[in-house]
Amino acid sequence: MDTGLARLHTIETPQGETFAAALLEGLRKSPKEIACKYFYDVEGSQIFDAICELPEYYQTRTETALLARHAAEIAALMGAGAEIVEFGAGSLRKVRILLEAASPQAYTPLDISGAYLGEVVRALAADYPMLTLRPVVADFTRPMDIPALAGNPRRAGFFPGSTIGNFKPDAAMALLRRMHAALGGGGLLVGVDLVKDPARLHAAYNDAAGVTAKFNKNLMLRANRELGSDFDPEGFAHYAPYNAAAGRIEMYLVSRRRQSVTIAGERIEFAPGEPVHTEDSHKYTIESFREMAARTGFRPRAVWTDPERLFSLHWLES
Ligand code: TRP
Repeated sequence: MDTGLARLHTIETPQGETFAAALLEGLRKSPKEIACKYFYDVEGSQIFDAICELPEYYQTRTETALLARHAAEIAALMGAGAEIVEFGAGSLRKVRILLEAASPQAYTPLDISGAYLGEVVRALAADYPMLTLRPVVADFTRPMDIPALAGNPRRAGFFPGSTIGNFKPDAAMALLRRMHAALGGGGLLVGVDLVKDPARLHAAYNDAAGVTAKFNKNLMLRANRELGSDFDPEGFAHYAPYNAAAGRIEMYLVSRRRQSVTIAGERIEFAPGEPVHTEDSHKYTIESFREMAARTGFRPRAVWTDPERLFSLHWLES
């Protein structure tokens, strides 16, 4: 990270658990699972950027268009001179719309990947010389402590990409409560993917070019790179059905045959057809999301959606 920039304050918090321990813990369970936060190493983040460009993945372009279209209104709600706190540093294109429209004093991206944060702040530092950039390496699935900046600007949270949908409803509510606490009275702008035609949802997570399959399998390649394990990614199939009763896409890696993998000296057996659960992506209606948010300390206020009602942006006040 470029520490030569005086306005760049970096906060590093220890992750407290290692990828190896978490991976083994999930694979010893029955049914097996791998926590989805491990998708996002630098390589995973790059593959995810490619997902966001896919023709089938309507979410990113719909949310970006909503941000651009309602930027002035959103900026007025955030207020000038705010500190924008983004939970998970994702697409720069989205936050740039807010930085242009809202003229915040500071941008505080929180992310689990310090390397990815480094890239984000380097790219923004050149374009926004007056902006205080304060990357925070943190896991927002745990309690967060974001120290106040000088002058204590009002905080505005930003949580795009329907990442909230990657948490089960109970965990999503706990996360919103942690954000409510971390924002110290500031509002939160959150992007939420909507319930719709199952075929459209299915296509978004089963793209023709196989980029989502590659992203899913990167978990295993990452383990091979970082932990020296011997996963054969060809030995697993990407499987992402829509569970209509639960209102969610469920993502798995399914073992194509009987096989074993050795991770940090421990042998894990896979039966033919055995699934490893890697991710859920819950879909909401506008009303069901507002009802959930209202139970976490926030007051749901403005909401924006596109004419096809594919995606929604919610402004929650503290
Ligand atoms: N928040 C995104 C979503 O639920 C994350 C995502 C999109 C994703 N495609 C994925 C996660 C594929 C894992 C695999 O839409």
